[in-house]
Amino acid sequence: MDLKKRRKILEKKKTIHDLIKRASSIDDPLSPFDSFRRYRRNDLSLYLESGRGDRLSSSVKQYIRNLLKTNMEGFYGSDWPIQAKVKRKEMSSADAHYIFVRELRFGKAYETSTRRACMEECNQIAGFVHYRFTLEEEIPVLYVYEIQLESWVQGKGLGEFLMQLIELIASKNRMSAIVLTVLTFNAFAMTFYMSKLGYRISSISPSKANLPTFSAKYEILCKTFDSEAKFVLEVCPFAAPPLTFMTKLLIKYNILVLLLLFILVLY
Ligand SMILES: CC(C)(COP(=O)(O)OP(=O)(O)OC[C@H]1O[C@@H](n2cnc3c(N)ncnc32)[C@H](O)[C@@H]1OP(=O)(O)O)[C@@H](O)C(=O)NCCC(=O)NCCS
Repeated sequence: MDLKKRRKILEKKKTIHDLIKRASSIDDPLSPFDSFRRYRRNDLSLYLESGRGDRLSSSVKQYIRNLLKTNMEGFYGSDWPIQAKVKRKEMSSADAHYIFVRELRFGKAYETSTRRACMEECNQIAGFVHYRFTLEEEIPVLYVYEIQLESWVQGKGLGEFLMQLIELIASKNRMSAIVLTVLTFNAFAMTFYMSKLGYRISSISPSKANLPTFSAKYEILCKTFDSEAKFVLEVCPFAAPPLTFMTKLLIKYNILVLLLLFILVLY
């Protein structure tokens, strides 16, 4: 590769790196979208506020753990204890951005710092989004780690509203796509993202990437905003060629083959 081309690639990498760094350091990504701070529809009166993983109070951490357990334990089944541990670690990362949805019951939201303490106590959380600005296949993306709503606010348009806001935050911070992971058993969430919001199964998703994970329990979905992101995350240019029947058999039975070889070596 000639020097000029190499320099161009390095410059591009630096620009993307700076983009992610800048987006990640913004204290309140909701501030350009004040009209989205309130949600008054379908008998709900809610407000939104930003949060950061490394600044969560212990009661909020406990709340997140409880809601995750309520909403997700059934989908993960016996994998839940491991997943809960992973999610607990992810939850407090300095890279974790949050949108908290709170009930608007007592006083106006986000008024003064003196009222804030009361509002944290009085205005209960009804759900949250955990997202991050990161790189996926060298593409700058907003990755939605979690969107979790309490059952009493579900099915009232709030999820769609939050995902619209997520799209605005992604565009404002010049991200090229939104990426998220969804469990295949979570049929409603799959329909919600794909039919309602127009997400597509990404080329990096196990089912598309022809990885030897025949029983992957999740899909990676994406919504892309430019042609490069579309090419990399949707069109699947780097996917391996489909595995032949023999290769699949070999992968499936490789443990058996290794065991036989081991026995042969022993004797
Ligand atoms: C998935 C989730 C974020 C969606 O948010 P939501 O606020 O419930 O969804 P919305 O009300 O915006 O629904 C959008 C569409 O789905 C439909 N819908 C909502 N709830 C539904 C339900 N229980 N069954 C079938 N359709 C439903 C709505 O009717 C709406 O379609 P419409 O506008 O054409 O009527 C939310 O339900 C949730 O937190 N679920 C539990 C946790 C979870 O599964 N998170 C996703 C992990 S990847």
